[in-house]
Amino acid sequence: MLVWTYMQKNIDGCGDGLTPTILVIFGATGDLIARKIAPALFYLYKARKLPTTFRVVGLARRELSDEMFREHLRSAFLKYVGDQDKESDPTNFLNSFVYHQGFLDTDSCYISLAKRLKDIDEEWGICTNKLFYLAVPPELYKGIFEHLATSGLTIPCGGEEEGRIPLEVAMARSTPLPLTGWTRVLVEKPFGSNLKTAIELDELLGTLFKETQVYRIDHYLAKEMIQNVLSFRFANNLFEDNWNAKHIERIDIRFFETLGVEERGAFYDGVGALVDVGQNHVLQMLALVTMERPRAYGAEAIREERARVLEHLVSITEGDVVKKTFRAQYKGYASIKGVDPRSITETYFKIMTTLNVPRWEGVPIMLEGGKRMGEIKKEIVITFKHPEPCLCPITEGRHYKNKVVIGLEPQEGITIQFWSKKPGLDFVMEERAFDFVLRKNRQGIQYVEEYEKLLLDCILGEQILFVSTDEVVAMWSFIDPIVRAWKGGIDVIPLHTYVPDTNTIIEEGKKIE
Ligand code: BG6
Repeated sequence: MLVWTYMQKNIDGCGDGLTPTILVIFGATGDLIARKIAPALFYLYKARKLPTTFRVVGLARRELSDEMFREHLRSAFLKYVGDQDKESDPTNFLNSFVYHQGFLDTDSCYISLAKRLKDIDEEWGICTNKLFYLAVPPELYKGIFEHLATSGLTIPCGGEEEGRIPLEVAMARSTPLPLTGWTRVLVEKPFGSNLKTAIELDELLGTLFKETQVYRIDHYLAKEMIQNVLSFRFANNLFEDNWNAKHIERIDIRFFETLGVEERGAFYDGVGALVDVGQNHVLQMLALVTMERPRAYGAEAIREERARVLEHLVSITEGDVVKKTFRAQYKGYASIKGVDPRSITETYFKIMTTLNVPRWEGVPIMLEGGKRMGEIKKEIVITFKHPEPCLCPITEGRHYKNKVVIGLEPQEGITIQFWSKKPGLDFVMEERAFDFVLRKNRQGIQYVEEYEKLLLDCILGEQILFVSTDEVVAMWSFIDPIVRAWKGGIDVIPLHTYVPDTNTIIEEGKKIE
């Protein structure tokens, strides 16, 4: 085993500043690296958050030299980084990228990769951290994991328990640090294509890695406003005592996108809106807004509470699917390239459910999402019950309800809607709002901010923003029966249509609000 000789430099502001790290990206010439990973790494590099000694090994089938690979990334970089960064020269940054050609289904690819990584370790005279990123279609995961295992690449060269060395511990040491040389694996959603395949994938991962080595990405967990749900609820004492069935009438989560399916026809047609965003992002939004207070701010406690609440989602039984679910497809979807012309894949869903926990007993929960909607609206709306007794004018049928709206798009922020007396002689109420806007005119590039956080946290060994195996199982357990029932055909569960770019869902000629 190599001995740690790397002098601890620039601890402040350089990620963990400790262990040199190699990020191996499978599928390195794909869209994911160009759009998300390379720009996110660039911002981390500029913020001096990456380990001082860092290398990216991109792996793909094409024959490319290191230089050609860097050129490929340079053009993607100019396309995808923000306007203010287009002038930056990424040459130094791109110098840490090297290319490794290989076919992912061959032993020789992993043997040569192992040799390449060993050569880097020897060049640097240390046992580096290895981070494997699977930026490939999920059907390739299994083969890659198995090959990683048989080639010995899953075994950390440090030979130590997986784990981070907390910065304060590292800084307090006067002697060189022991070697960690961890191995971690980053996996993109979808984790499996249903409950069965998700469990199989997880079991396979479990035989090769410890749960602490596996980082399952749901980029929603890294969104500012989603992280803010925990702060809003648990760093304040304003609402939490009323955050329950006694005071809350309903919870609505909306995930409306104006984007359509565009070039993703073939992929999307195999999943549909519910699996694409409902099974993951929407359920994570729900978990954070309904979970119990975690015992501490730490990955174990937070992930445990997220999983626990998701496990209590009331399953939609076969008999209930017609009543409690609704699906629709936008007109014109079936003629998109890659989509089956007779496709019954939904591009819009609405699910009504509840949580079988005392805190939320009987509170209706509406989960709704769609592509090509009339407006972008990604939000969590908490509607409070009409106060009893209410010190308000008696108006027949009028309900004075408060709402807390946690918005992600079009505006990131929190709005608290309340009633106030209108100035004047009469006792009349009007609705007012306290608005908190997280940031005005955000010039974000889709995914990049989230991937910065995810990549950094993975390097630091922080799992809060990653999905645990229990969460994966709980989310699929809820979604699976619906997907299965929907697959049963449109005679049993109708597939409605809607006019793209409007909010008009047509059900047998009726408009559904
Ligand atoms: C992805 C889905 O996971 O999330 C896409 O596959 C969807 O279909 C996207 O558009 C939404 O992410 P964001 O960050 O743009 O809200």
